[in-house]
This record gives sequence, C-alpha cells and structure tokens, in this order.
Amino acid sequence: MKRIVVLISGSGSNLQAIIDACQLGRLNAEIVAVFSNKTDAFGLQRAQRAGIATQSLAIGDYADRQAFDRALMQSIDRYQPDLIVLAGYMRILSSSFVSHYLGRLLNIHPSLLPKYPGLHTHRRALENGDSEHGVSVHFVTEQLDGGPVILQASIPVLPDDTEQDLAERLLIEEHRIYPQVIQWWVEGRLSLRGDRAWLDNEPL
Ligand code: GRF
Repeated sequence: MKRIVVLISGSGSNLQAIIDACQLGRLNAEIVAVFSNKTDAFGLQRAQRAGIATQSLAIGDYADRQAFDRALMQSIDRYQPDLIVLAGYMRILSSSFVSHYLGRLLNIHPSLLPKYPGLHTHRRALENGDSEHGVSVHFVTEQLDGGPVILQASIPVLPDDTEQDLAERLLIEEHRIYPQVIQWWVEGRLSLRGDRAWLDNEPL
C-alpha cells in the first residue's frame, strides 16, 4: 500500500474526498499523516475523525521559509511517505522542498492552467468574462503553479455567477479528479519525466 502525506491550510474538503476514496476502495493508498501550517485548519478535524495522525507547524516558530520547510520535511519524512499531496496548502514551497519530493509531489489549483496561477482565480475568471473556468491537477515543480498539468476539469461560467458560486461548483469537480489522479500515481501509471507528465507511457 502506498503511503500518502497530505498538506492543508484550510477546510480540507479535498482531503475529505481523498479520505473517502480510500475508504471506498477507489484509492488503494493509506493517508499516513496530515500536516497543516494553520493550527485551526478544519481539515485537521476531518483527519482526526478518520483516525489519521495530524501535525501543525506554526510559521512564526521558524526564522524563515527555509527553516520552516526544513522542519516540515523532517517531520514528513518520519512517516516515510511515497507521495505528498498538496490540498489547499497555501504556502509557497522552497526549492529544496520541491526538489526533495520531485515527481512525487502533486497539487490542485483552481484554474485552467496555464491561466491564472496564484490567488483569486475565480475573481479573475469573472473579471475577464471567461465563458468557462476550471481546475488543474499538476506535478509541482519550482515554478509557482507552473508544473506539468495531469488532468483538468472545466465548468461553464453562468451569467449571474459570483466567486462563491464558481468556487462551490468547482469543488465538486476537484473532489472527482484529485482522487483519480492520485490513484493513477499509486498504480504506477503516472510519472514526471523531465518537464512532462506521462500517463501509461504517453506524454500528456
Ligand atoms: C481548492 O479550491 C483548491 O483547488 C485550492 O484551495 C482550495 C482548497 O479547498 N488549492 P479545500 O481546503 O480542499 O476545501
């Protein structure tokens, strides 16, 4: 069974989708720990309810990003994970963190990358008058939200949509595609080769 560590900062609804997929046998993996950079992240309660070890690290306790990420890596590695899953983890990663887990570090980003890296993606889609919006699961590389995309899902933008409407409808798609991509990785079907994602021996 592959061992997964999930990093969160907030509500953890994607974490919940991954927990559920494991429990339903759609994902043949074990979540061995959940880490948060926010002590009050609701996702920590979701993990605890599922009997998963949790740990939070407060940024204020460390001198800088390097020191924080070093401590985080050390704590993560105690669980000997195969895969690190970022699920609403709202911190920029240091390059040593990224290179340590390269090829086994996934993220979900609420836009149709390469559109809208960074924050406020729903607002930006509305402001630009986009007719569709979406979500991307990608391998994490040094470039912020710039690693190779593995799978996307899109939703139409409806005339009266607010940011909140888009966020809510998009989460449904997020909860569908993230466990799917993780299962591909777990089955050994998905890999990062150079700067491309490969699925079943084909570049994506
Ligand atoms: C999601 O929209 C995800 O795409 C983004 O942050 C949000 C996290 O939501 N990276 P949740 O904590 O999984 O509910």
